Parts: sequence; structure tokens; C-alpha cells
Amino acid sequence: MTSISISSQKGGVGKTTLSVNLAYSFAKLGKTLIIDSDPNGSVGHLYQRLDPSLKTISEPGYQPRGLYNMLTDSELSLADCIIETAPNSPSLLFAGTVDAYETLEECPAANFESGLGILLEQVSDLGYQYVIIDTAAGLFKPSRAAIKCSDFGLIVQHPSPISDHTAQQGMRMYDNLIRQSQQLKQISIVLSMVDEADDSAAISKIRLRYNKLSNIQCLDQVITKDPIYQKAAQFGYSVSSMSQSSSVTDQIDALRDEIWRKSI
Ligand SMILES: Nc1ncnc2c1ncn2[C@@H]1O[C@H](COP(=O)(O)OP(=O)(O)OP(=O)(O)O)[C@@H](O)[C@H]1O
Ligand SMILES: [Mg+2]
Repeated sequence: MTSISISSQKGGVGKTTLSVNLAYSFAKLGKTLIIDSDPNGSVGHLYQRLDPSLKTISEPGYQPRGLYNMLTDSELSLADCIIETAPNSPSLLFAGTVDAYETLEECPAANFESGLGILLEQVSDLGYQYVIIDTAAGLFKPSRAAIKCSDFGLIVQHPSPISDHTAQQGMRMYDNLIRQSQQLKQISIVLSMVDEADDSAAISKIRLRYNKLSNIQCLDQVITKDPIYQKAAQFGYSVSSMSQSSSVTDQIDALRDEIWRKSI
């Protein structure tokens, strides 16, 4: 099984959108699970159209059990919490309830990491081949655990100067995470919401900087800024489910293949 965490220092850079679309792309290759580790739990909202039972996500107060319940309640079985969606679509593990998250916040980071490591072994035992873990913005406890327990850490970065500044601040932390983890093989950056005409100079500058680092690379494939991503999210679909989006589907598949090559 290959596990991939998707994180960023800055919020709103497209992590959840990319997580869902990458999960769909990996699902074309094998059994895939997407885990939402963001306590705000937005992955489920992008899934509503796939499974009628997920429509309840929008109802006030609806809080399905998920990752944080699994990590705080040893009686709970993973099979009871994973939501299977349509055939050839990724299954989903919700973030879980707020009270479970708050309980876990009180625990030392090591508990978090060992719990997540055990959970990922159980996911593998259920026959999953690919796991995508969406994280909340910033390198706080749950996100750090997700990165350290995964095989591949994908950092999503916007090429704007302010995002680049924030990202540079975070690189030392990412560098420490790769040193501390026995699981993590590679950390790479994907530039997202790229406007290829406007951002080309900024992209070259960022690439040049990362080329000098040994532990963290900038991937060749970028994610362009395209309204289809927003439109798909608005209707609860992946971009690959929207027929007119083939070039965008191609870029997601190309990113999947680049990640796959670098994670083995
Ligand atoms: N490639 C893209 N092109 C255009 N819009 C995009 C793209 N990716 C994401 N978006 C839009 O940008 C907004 C933020 O995306 P998303 O929620 O995925 O970011 P995030 O990094 O997960 O945010 P947060 O840090 O709050 O979890 C959404 O409205 C989404 O539809
Ligand atoms: Mg998000």
C-alpha cells in the first residue's frame, strides 16, 4: 500500500480539491481510500453526489464517525467507519466528531502518530492499495502525524510571493519531519492554481531554489487554475466525472503518475 499526505503551510491553496481528484485518479489503478484529517471535514462535501447517504452531510449537526473516533475508541472497527462509494471511486474515512478530535488534542503527539500508523496497517489489511490523507492548513499535530506516517508527503503551494514566503518558512519543519520519520520516503511540492502565463517567472524561481535541496523536490507537473475545479466541487463531483474536463483530468493523472514513480 502507498500512502500520500497532502499538506500546506497556507490555507486555501487547493489541498482538499487536489486530494479528492487525486484519489479518483488513483482509484483507476486500484482500491483507494481518502482520509480526511482536517477537523473541519470538507472532503465529504465534495462527495455528496456519489452516495445518497452522504447528502446528510449538509444537515446541521450531522457528524459521522471517522478518523478521530477510530483513534480514541478501540472498540470501533475501521470497516464500520469507512464509507464505500460508487464502484471504481475512492472510499472515504471522515475526520470524525469534534469531541473525539478534542480528546485527541489533549494527547501527546506520539500517541497520535502511533495510532495513525496502526490504523494505516488496518487499512492495508482491508486490501486498499492507495491512501490519500487530506490535512488541515499548517503543520499542527494531526497534519504532522499524517505526514510522518505516510510514504509520500505532497506539499501544495501557490506560486504567489506571499505563499512562497510562507512555504520557505515551513521548509525547515518539513525537513525535520523527513528526518524524524521512518516511513516517509519523499517530500515534494506541487505548484497549484497556476496561471501559466502570469506565473512562469515565479515558477522558474521556485524550481531553481528547490533544485538545490536534497530532501524536498518541486514536481514537474503543476495544477493549473481552472474554474472546472470549483464547478466540480460545487456540484459534489470529481473533475474526471465532468465530461468536458479532459485536459484537467490529464494533468491530475500525470501528477498521480509522477508521485507514483517517486514514491517507489
Ligand atoms: N486548480 C484550481 N483552480 C481553480 N480553483 C481551485 C483550484 N483548486 C481549488 N480551487 C478552489 O479554491 C478554493 C479552495 O480550495 P480547497 O478547499 O481545495 O483548498 P484547501 O487548501 O483545502 O483549503 P483549506 O486550507 O481551508 O483546507 C475552493 O473554492 C476550490 O474550488
Ligand atoms: Mg481543505
